[in-house]
Amino acid sequence: MRDYPDLREILDHHSFLSLAQYQHHGKTSCLEHTLDVAEITFKAARKLHLDYISATRGALLHDFYLYDWHVNSPGLHGFKHPYIAKQNAERYFRLNRIERNIILRHMWPLTPIPPVYPESILVCLADKAAAISDYQKEFRKTILSMKPKSTSAIHRSL
Ligand SMILES: [Fe+2]
Ligand SMILES: [Fe+2]
Repeated sequence: MRDYPDLREILDHHSFLSLAQYQHHGKTSCLEHTLDVAEITFKAARKLHLDYISATRGALLHDFYLYDWHVNSPGLHGFKHPYIAKQNAERYFRLNRIERNIILRHMWPLTPIPPVYPESILVCLADKAAAISDYQKEFRKTILSMKPKSTSAIHRSL
């Protein structure tokens, strides 16, 4: 992704890098999640001969809301954050219609208006795939860190 100036513009931006300080799903930061979504999008959009630069720029900015929703959410985070992310993104970057649609519609079907471009549908799906993978990692870590009870302890608790 770094070979493309339009992607590097976002990847190197201090506000984009600040996503590292916000917790997103489980222990995954907003930056890690965003980079996962962007990587899935970049590879899939190229294979599908879509506008992979707009698709990846939209993916990089889809969760650019710049707060920790566990700590100081403005309320109804799931519904509001696409609009906040778009406002923030427009403050720092020049967006085209595909990128705007990706950011605004990535939460569909939680938010009622569906994405319209193939690139926005792709990011919407990549976001869900990355979110499931974030929670799977957490679940795996939790299970693996659990100590098995001895058979006698199980018998005693019955
Ligand atoms: Fe989101
Ligand atoms: Fe996301």
